[in-house]
Amino acid sequence: MQYYKINTSTWRLRVGSPFETEAVLPEYLGEAVKTGDLSPLRINRDDPRRIRISLLPEDIVLGLGQNMRGMNKRGGIYDSWCYDEANHSPHKRSLYGAHNFFILDGGTPERRFGVFVDFPGKVSFDVGYTRNDTLEIVTAEADYDLYLIRGEELSAITASFRRMIGRPYLPPRWALGYQQSRWGYDSAAEVEALGRRFREEGIPCDAIYLDIEYMERYKDFSIHPERFPDFAAHVARMGAMGFRLVPIIDAGVKIEEGYDVYEEGVAAGYFCSAESGEDFVAAVWPGKCHFPDFLNPLARRWFGSKYRMLTEAGIEGFWNDMNEPAIFYTEEGMAEAMELAEASKGKNLGVNDFFALREKFAFDDPEEDFKRFYHRLPDGSRIRHDRVHNIYGFNMTRAAAEGLKEIDPGKRYLLFSRSSYVGMHRYSGLWTGDNSSWWEHILLNIQMMPALNMCGFLYAGADIGGHMHDANGDLVTRWTQFGVFTPLFRNHATRQAREQEPFAYDEETLKRVRRAIQFRYALLPWLYGELMRAALSEELLFKPLSFAYEDERSRRVDDQLLLGSLMIAPIYTENARGRFVHLPETMLFWKVGDYHEKEFELLSAGDHWIAVEMDQIPLFIRPQGVLVLASHADCEAEQDYAELEAVVYMSEDQLDYRLYWDDGIASSPKAARHGVLELEINRNKGTYSARLTAAAVCPVERIQLYIIDSQGFTTQLTVARS
Ligand code: GLC
Repeated sequence: MQYYKINTSTWRLRVGSPFETEAVLPEYLGEAVKTGDLSPLRINRDDPRRIRISLLPEDIVLGLGQNMRGMNKRGGIYDSWCYDEANHSPHKRSLYGAHNFFILDGGTPERRFGVFVDFPGKVSFDVGYTRNDTLEIVTAEADYDLYLIRGEELSAITASFRRMIGRPYLPPRWALGYQQSRWGYDSAAEVEALGRRFREEGIPCDAIYLDIEYMERYKDFSIHPERFPDFAAHVARMGAMGFRLVPIIDAGVKIEEGYDVYEEGVAAGYFCSAESGEDFVAAVWPGKCHFPDFLNPLARRWFGSKYRMLTEAGIEGFWNDMNEPAIFYTEEGMAEAMELAEASKGKNLGVNDFFALREKFAFDDPEEDFKRFYHRLPDGSRIRHDRVHNIYGFNMTRAAAEGLKEIDPGKRYLLFSRSSYVGMHRYSGLWTGDNSSWWEHILLNIQMMPALNMCGFLYAGADIGGHMHDANGDLVTRWTQFGVFTPLFRNHATRQAREQEPFAYDEETLKRVRRAIQFRYALLPWLYGELMRAALSEELLFKPLSFAYEDERSRRVDDQLLLGSLMIAPIYTENARGRFVHLPETMLFWKVGDYHEKEFELLSAGDHWIAVEMDQIPLFIRPQGVLVLASHADCEAEQDYAELEAVVYMSEDQLDYRLYWDDGIASSPKAARHGVLELEINRNKGTYSARLTAAAVCPVERIQLYIIDSQGFTTQLTVARS
């Protein structure tokens, strides 16, 4: 074991000789020191794979990124083990990502710390599940880096961690528009009709997704010649209507003679190998596939360069899927299942035999398959996949990001992935995979957002409306009303599900969903500014209430979030016409229906029942908070930002507000000549004066202010740029 000191509050302990995941930036690996202090973490001397922390009754455990259960992870057991899990039920221990960071918050500055376990294989976090008073971490091997980050405030701990893992991926501004997806829109004609429908219905939308049906026989970097003839012309026609198309890319490469990606990969030795040394074979959508060895930098470079085929057709965004990697079956697994079936033939199977047979044919135990293949390391040695499993999807997406950077270094692309590990956040965003059209999954979406933010995944979102099963109009409405606040704002559903577009239900649903989406576009410059600020300053976009309010009541709130100077309390239960909400202090309450209608109410600190109609989105502006609003257009590019509005809850006589702005597309804020819009408001004996300045890149000319004071009086004022 070797201790490293990163700074006065952060330590690293290296146990064994771990595989370098590149999650933490090299400059934050610290300096080797003789001894260190990692208390209250205790490593089991006899079995260093086991790390323990005693839990006190008041301790709350936040984080662990993409996982089931509430914001407070206490009581559950979670395995970091990236898995193609399409059934997100409460008992599931693993989803698609491995996000091994959590914070323990005992409610006092002395008892707050963050822990990161950097290990690319399986890690289990037993957070008071086996014993209520013990948190136990178990890594599959005794080779890992363990980080302890102390801090008096929760936000200081997350900021330290975020600094160590580097700046998050920055999406283009259009990627904050509404996006419509479905598996699948099967032809160019269908996609174009869908685009026209959005425009006819007056529903703003920036992107339409191409799921696997756009490919020829599910081959990456191919286009189905009959379904999508003259693809570039189709992309251009959609572009003229204000839509970007976002195609899916899968990890598995179809084995097919004459298919360039397959042949090049085989010839260059870019695929993962089986134990025998032959290229590893497993089946996914296209049938039998090889899997690019994304741990090999040359294979990454090669795969990344393939995206050019689509960017040349005008594509500016991608979603990387099935990159845990998802495996339907391997030949070995199939042979074992067949053998068991043969052996069972004609037998009188009792419970144990029958269950064993059924399990074998479920093909849902990837554990064995992940041990059947290998990666080649730069020194020529091989490492078995399960030992580095959790960084496969990360490196696929890194390949894409690096490829896109080579294709156009000056531009931000939309990119997000299903599988992830800490560190991938520097290259892309993520979506939370195949959730279900269940009300419980709106709540899960709410609860997951801050945990993802802690690991740097700011550009994130869930399939709005739910992926699996059938949604009704109310579910899509309420979910869209929450999605209005998530950076990735995409409605997506599986092929087997009922249609889920805003107009798939009744007139009322259409009206409500349209209003919510229009409000999102009104929020867009504000949300973009908040997202960029969070990304550039190591802040969270979504925070649990405990990040700002330390009282015991606020610490336990599990279904409200802080977002910039807002607090949101989404409705996530069926047939609800309101909900209970906890206000740690007085806030300005706005039930947003048509966002042009500005009716506000001051609500005092405490617990309230708020009535919220089906077409309303409840939001709360915190004291000295400013919410900037634009007017919606059909798509982001058509929005006119010259005239804005702002709702201000001014509880003091003086207020300064800054909103980040840039051109929204250049690769880095620097290249985009970023700057801020600055608003200063003063109140003197009841009279207001305001000043607006803005950087050259910001087109804002005038803001119509709605200033609400602590008595609830509204003053309207227009301020022009000086
Ligand atoms: C996976 C993805 C899902 C997609 C489907 C077909 O299940 O998670 O989003 O629609 O594959 O490509």
